[in-house]
Formats: sequence, C-alpha cells, structure tokens
Amino acid sequence: MSSLKYKKKNLFFHNLNLNNLAKKKTTPFYLYSFDQIQKNISNIKKAFHKSRPTICFATKSNSNLEILKLMKKNGLGIDVVSGGELKLALKSGCSKSKIVFSGVGKSTEELNHAIDKNILIINCESINEVEKIAILAAKKKKRVCLGIRINPDVKVFTNKKIATGQKGDKFGVSINDAKFILKKYYAHPYLNFIGLSVHIGSQIQSLKPFQQVLSFLTKILVSLKKSGYLMKWIDLGGGMSVPYSNNENTFKIKEYAKLVYQFKIKNNVNIILEPGRYLVSDGGVIISKVIYVKKSSDRSFIILDAGMNDLLRPALYDAYHEILPLIKNNSKFKKRIEFVGPICESSDKFGTYNNYPLLKDNDYICIKNCGAYGKVLSSNYNIRPLIEEIGYQKGKVKVLKKRQKFEQIL
Ligand code: LLP
Repeated sequence: MSSLKYKKKNLFFHNLNLNNLAKKKTTPFYLYSFDQIQKNISNIKKAFHKSRPTICFATKSNSNLEILKLMKKNGLGIDVVSGGELKLALKSGCSKSKIVFSGVGKSTEELNHAIDKNILIINCESINEVEKIAILAAKKKKRVCLGIRINPDVKVFTNKKIATGQKGDKFGVSINDAKFILKKYYAHPYLNFIGLSVHIGSQIQSLKPFQQVLSFLTKILVSLKKSGYLMKWIDLGGGMSVPYSNNENTFKIKEYAKLVYQFKIKNNVNIILEPGRYLVSDGGVIISKVIYVKKSSDRSFIILDAGMNDLLRPALYDAYHEILPLIKNNSKFKKRIEFVGPICESSDKFGTYNNYPLLKDNDYICIKNCGAYGKVLSSNYNIRPLIEEIGYQKGKVKVLKKRQKFEQIL
C-alpha cells in the first residue's frame, strides 16, 4: 500500500503517525483511508471512462455507511446481495436506479422489497427465482427489470473458495437454462428482461478469464438476438485483483478497460461493473496490540489482541495479509515468529516470518489490506465485541462506527 510508509522508524498512513493514534485508542480497530479509497475510485472511473459503465460498488466487501456515501458522492451505484444490503444502500442515499441485486437465494421478502423500490436490475440465478418474481410482480401489477446471471464455465486461477463461474458452482444458470427462461417469460407482461450478468470469481489476477467471458458473452448475445431477445445491459461483475504482497502484480486495469470498451462497441450494450476489493482493499488496515510475546522451542508466538473473529480471511482462505510493526526495531528476532490471535482455535493465525524486527508486549502492529472482506466477515465468536471503525481523510481522524458494547451482545 503506497500510503503506508516508514518515516524514520515510525509507520505512517499518509501523514498519520499510527503509533500515536494507537496509543490513544482501544485496540484492535479498523482504520480506513478515504483518501486512498477516493484514489481507487478515480482510478477505476478514469480507466473505464470510454465505456461509461454504471459502476456499482459491491458492498459485501465493505458495508461501512460512510464509505457507501463516498461512493455515492462519486456517482457510483451499489451491488447488493441481501435485503439488509439493499436497506443500507438506500440509507446511503444511493439512487435506486443505480442499485443491482445479485445472489442465488433471494427470499420473497427481499424480492418484494426490491420490486417495490424499482431498482435498476435484479439478476436472477435460477428458473425458480424468475417464477417467483413473475408471481410477485403480477400481484403488484409492476413491471420488473431483470437480468439473468449466466455461469460461463470459465476457469479462474484464484483461491478455489472464491471462484464462482465454473460448471458445478451454485451461481448463475447455463446458457440452455437462460434460453428456457427467455422462451417462457420474455413476453411476460410484468417481466422486463434487459440484461445478462456474470461474476466468475474474486481476486483474479490474469486478464485471460475476463477475455474468455467477453467472447463467450458476444456469442450468446448474437445467438439471443437471432431468437429475438434483446439484451441492453451487460453486468460484468467484479473480480479485479489487488496485490497483497510485493511479489504480486497490480491488476492491468487499463487493458481490461480496453477489452470492455471493444466488447461494448461490438455489441452495442450498456456496461455494469461490480468492483468490491479493487476499490477498498488497500484503503483499510487493522491496528492491533501485542498482548504477549510467547517463546517456544522453535519460534515465538506474537499473540495479538486482534483475532480471527476480527479478520477471518487468513483462517478461512489461508489469505496472506502483511503485518508491519508500528515502530520498526533495528534488532531482529533470532527465531521464526508466528502472529496469532487470542481465539481458542488453532486456525487463529495471521502469518509466519523470519528475521522479523523485535516486538515486545504492548507494542503495536498494522495488518495491511483489510479494507475489503475485513469487518464484513467479522463475528462475535468467543463473545468478542465487533471492533471500532475509524476513518482518515485529509489529515483528520473520525470514528465511523463505535466498538460494540458488551451489553449489545450479552
Ligand atoms: N459481484 C458479485 C455477484 C459477487 O459475488 C462479488 C463478490 C462481487 C461482485 C465483488 O467481487 P470483487 O470485486 O470484490 O472481487 N470473501 C472473499 C471474497 C468473496 C467474494 C464474493 N463475491 C474474500 O475475502 O476474498
């Protein structure tokens, strides 16, 4: 993360001395840089400007209301996957005409809510869902804009737990099922099929699968057009990667944008994008305190006050999140160290390092790249309160969401 830098021995997030902040706060806490997120938003808008897409922030990656408001301020829409996220998107002031609703298991209540709010598009993921919407829309005598999420059966090289676009995955429908749906419902008086959607997975580093999806969609659009089905909106989902370590490359966003533009021109469609991670990942960190440095025969355990309930990604996906000391000691640990949390689970670990700068009890560390799929995946496991979320913008620090009180969970 370019905005995290050492000045002398102290780690700074932009101009913020993190150790000074940590000393004033109850740790652990999430810290979001609105300056960094703003930079990411501007970057994506600039890269895709020729395609003039509707960019809908995937709020499953970060549901902080102030971050959603920043998205709105920049003209972005929101991609929601539940009734709760839909309520939050509306609360942020996001225009209804920029909300897209994805997900394999939307309940009757959630669908009714989405229909009532006249959102841009509901991306359907099964024949049963379309049948249900047809009944609900007819009851309300309301015409609903629908997309069909296609499973393009494309292989992506990412963690297998976050790949979503291959045959056998629960997401989307096959092209044959999509044709079946259109044949049966295209002329339905209350259903307005306006588009197709895809989302093949997350943290995708190579452009190849995106390229495969675009040519796959081109073929489908041609074939659907021949049958008289016009699809004006193509929702390409999210998936753009971010580097979690220095060995990983940055995503070739300009090249992807070029491919999308060619696709748009060729097929004369409107584009929707649903980026999550790309917009917020490097905009967030966790600041945590070392409770104990526990020595064992082959290593030292650095026991943090942040646990897997605060950041689940390492335990769930073996994800790597770099950890930096807030004050860098010139002396190093002689043995290997392992960062762990206080939770009673062996999987409550955050990574192993050799030659790590010395740390002692009560020192502070920073866990990088926690802006996406961080707080949203946290829980009260071990009856631990959800931690505070703090924002940093143009030199100012502000509490965005307070740490949960025990009374709220007991
Ligand atoms: N659209 C849909 C329909 C999605 O399911 C997702 C993510 C996105 C957009 C946003 O994808 P992104 O741009 O963030 O890659 N918890 C996992 C990631 C799960 C992603 C779920 N879907 C993680 O921590 O890596």
